[in-house]
Amino acid sequence: MLDTQNAPAAVPALIRREEYRPPDWLVPEIALDFDLDAARTRVTARLMVTRNGVHDRPLRLDGDGLTPRAVRVNGVATTDWTLEAGVLVLPINGATAEVETEVEIAPETNTQLMGLYASGGLLCTQCEAEGFRRITFFPDRPDVLSRYRVKMAADKTLYPVLLGNGDLTGSGDLSGGRHWAEWTDPFPKPSYLFALVAGQLFANRDTFTTKSGKLVDLAIWVAEADLPKTHHAMDALKASMKWDEDVYGREYDLGQFNIVAVADFNFGAMENKSLNIFNSRYILADPDTATDMDYDAVAGVVAHEYFHNWSGNRVTCRDWFQLSLKEGFTVFRDQCFSADQGSAAVKRIEDVRVLRAAQFPEDAGPLAHPIRPDSYIEISNFYTATIYNKGAEIIRMLHTILGAEDFRKGCDLYFDRHDGTAATCEDFVRAMENASGRDLAQFRLWYGQAGTPRITAKISGETLILEQTLPETPGQTDKQPMLIPLRLALFDRATGGHAGEQLVLLDKARMELPLPSGGGRPVLSINRDFSAPIIVETDRTAEDLAFLSAHDDDPFGRYEAMQQLMLDTLVGAARDGAADHTAVVTAVGQTLANNALDPAFIGEAVLLPSEAFIGDQMAQIDPEAIHRAREALRRDLATRLAGQWEAAYHAHAAPRFHYTPEAKGARRLRNVALGYLAAAQADHAGALAFRQFEAADNMTDRLAALGTLANGDAVERPAALQAFYARYQDNPLVIDKWFSAQALSSRADTGAAVAALRDHPDFTLHNPNRVRALAGAFSMNQLHFHAADGGGYRFLADILLALDPINPQTAAKLLPPLGRWRRVDPARQALMRAELERILAAPGLSKDVFEQASKSLA
Ligand code: BES
Ligand code: ZN
Repeated sequence: MLDTQNAPAAVPALIRREEYRPPDWLVPEIALDFDLDAARTRVTARLMVTRNGVHDRPLRLDGDGLTPRAVRVNGVATTDWTLEAGVLVLPINGATAEVETEVEIAPETNTQLMGLYASGGLLCTQCEAEGFRRITFFPDRPDVLSRYRVKMAADKTLYPVLLGNGDLTGSGDLSGGRHWAEWTDPFPKPSYLFALVAGQLFANRDTFTTKSGKLVDLAIWVAEADLPKTHHAMDALKASMKWDEDVYGREYDLGQFNIVAVADFNFGAMENKSLNIFNSRYILADPDTATDMDYDAVAGVVAHEYFHNWSGNRVTCRDWFQLSLKEGFTVFRDQCFSADQGSAAVKRIEDVRVLRAAQFPEDAGPLAHPIRPDSYIEISNFYTATIYNKGAEIIRMLHTILGAEDFRKGCDLYFDRHDGTAATCEDFVRAMENASGRDLAQFRLWYGQAGTPRITAKISGETLILEQTLPETPGQTDKQPMLIPLRLALFDRATGGHAGEQLVLLDKARMELPLPSGGGRPVLSINRDFSAPIIVETDRTAEDLAFLSAHDDDPFGRYEAMQQLMLDTLVGAARDGAADHTAVVTAVGQTLANNALDPAFIGEAVLLPSEAFIGDQMAQIDPEAIHRAREALRRDLATRLAGQWEAAYHAHAAPRFHYTPEAKGARRLRNVALGYLAAAQADHAGALAFRQFEAADNMTDRLAALGTLANGDAVERPAALQAFYARYQDNPLVIDKWFSAQALSSRADTGAAVAALRDHPDFTLHNPNRVRALAGAFSMNQLHFHAADGGGYRFLADILLALDPINPQTAAKLLPPLGRWRRVDPARQALMRAELERILAAPGLSKDVFEQASKSLA
């Protein structure tokens, strides 16, 4: 007998975009019957199948871990089927048939959290991207759209609430303490949008009247004790529904909209038709447990999932290579929504910060891919910052190039043309082209070429010279110049003003623009409002940047000038061991003193770039030198502007908590000031932070104080960590913050601390939020993740390997930081590669982790 135990698994297959073929069989209708039980759920599926075109191929129904207990064709039991790598292959005579299958699944042992699983006492589903095949046999691909009728039966005490997609079309009691409900969804949908939830849930109910006068019942379902924490999410839902009507003319299309919050969830949230399922961290919020950032995230994610009802559900994706069609567009929509709710300038700064922290490194590393990838092994690895955040920037550029009016016409055309179908990125661009009459041929390159374009902008005499290059990325060496929209303005040094912003469409490798003659050399403000997702290099001096940081009327440009000034100083200091801080200190001092500025903006502008972002600017990352340089500048800013930080700290104290943009801005600036005060004088600041920690009436202030203390050596540190734990030990979302605050600390003992936290009774590999709170946060800690002895790399690899058999999707998401080995010195490179090789050699590795690890080593 062959010993297959230790034989290497077959290399998983690569799926290619070019190989797309329309489905052989369609399923216009499906009736599902669930006999729900945590240990043993029986699923009966009745599919009306129709042959798609003329062919003689059998019906192939995807399955993952399923064995059919019965198969019937047109009501007659059959054994004429085979299982090929999980796929049920069934010959069918004729053009249509009714195919029925029966399977049994065990939700309570489903640790992957894909398909039907148990979370707390609930039963819930997650089907995107390929989870439906873990529930029943079905052509589990987004271009097969079906009408669903779903009947579920369950114990009435354990599962009093039974929710599905669409409308409730029947319910009743059964014998043995069980009951049933039937849900019918009138809109054809792909299987990834299927959902059901069963459990002891309580609803925060409300209503929304659409612009055409239809009343929609809204409900947010949570554990009873969490009901008071659902009001912010409900407000956000109603605001989103109104916003999509106002800005896109899109109305909700069913009589009810349900949201359920669950504790164990692989992602943020999921847009299942009329039954969104959320990671509880993006629903639950009250002042005592959620920070301002959490409040913003709740509103942003609620909006995002709601907006998918049109950009994703009514018009879905033909195949998973088109993922950015729904995700990039919907992120753009949620970003604009959030910008309209508060400070648009601060929102833009935050979005760019996320792009630079998550997407630029992806584009510059071994996992780089275009927003419409050409191939994948495991699709869940492609829910990336590139697909999402760069994808959103590409839609934003279309908006910039076409203007708001033509962009809206293009959206209308896209929704009208493709409603009820599965579309492609090409369909979207074509709608934009047709509606605007513009030729977007060159713009399409953004969909296919990976990598972050580099633009150099130089003023030579009376000419502005713009040049673009696109670096090589894996599998792509020969790149074409892209169409890059650049908002720019030329400032007059003497007056501090400019003659108007221009939109330049850079469409060649090199372009020369004549400058207005006379008036001396202008100061260039470029890529204003971050009009393109690019890296800009200019020949601007420190004086130019200081000028812009004080005068640019584009808030993003003003922020950017300050960041560039700081970066130049920090990169120089990391390289040379020291730098002159004067220009930065002066610019920060002026910004702090400028009463005309929004405190929320000041809070962002005076923050130093992260250690990770500083490293991204260097040929080789030296984590210790970067940390030293940044701390030195932080201390210098703290001491030399001590009076101003003190003043800002006290001026922005609030007698009590309000959730308004003004109050948020005040908290932001005050907590940034606290960070600087702590950098100047540890003793005094420890007491100050502890006082804030104890007196806070909200999580923003309490966590900022805890973070400051966790990061230092103040005597108050242990007491604060202990008090925080004691106060919130029954609230997992807050305990996540407690884990993260320690994992992010720059203290020398952080490596040992995270090792101890991994053994803490509250640590579990079964809750993705907890894993991310410890391991995910630690991998962002540049100083300690890159510890010279390799302990940080080993820690991450150990957790990843322990998690892979439990939850491969979440394990694979931990891997990318290890893949950045090319960016560090040879000794660290060897340590990182050794961990990647250890991961790759692990027996039974998932294809999720295999793909990430093998690509990272290549
Ligand atoms: N469709 C996704 C959920 C999803 C993510 C399914 C990954 C399968 C794999 C949902 O619309 C989404 O994008 N959620 C984001 C949050 C959003 C605000 C960007 C998430 O879960 O992170
Ligand atoms: Zn989404």
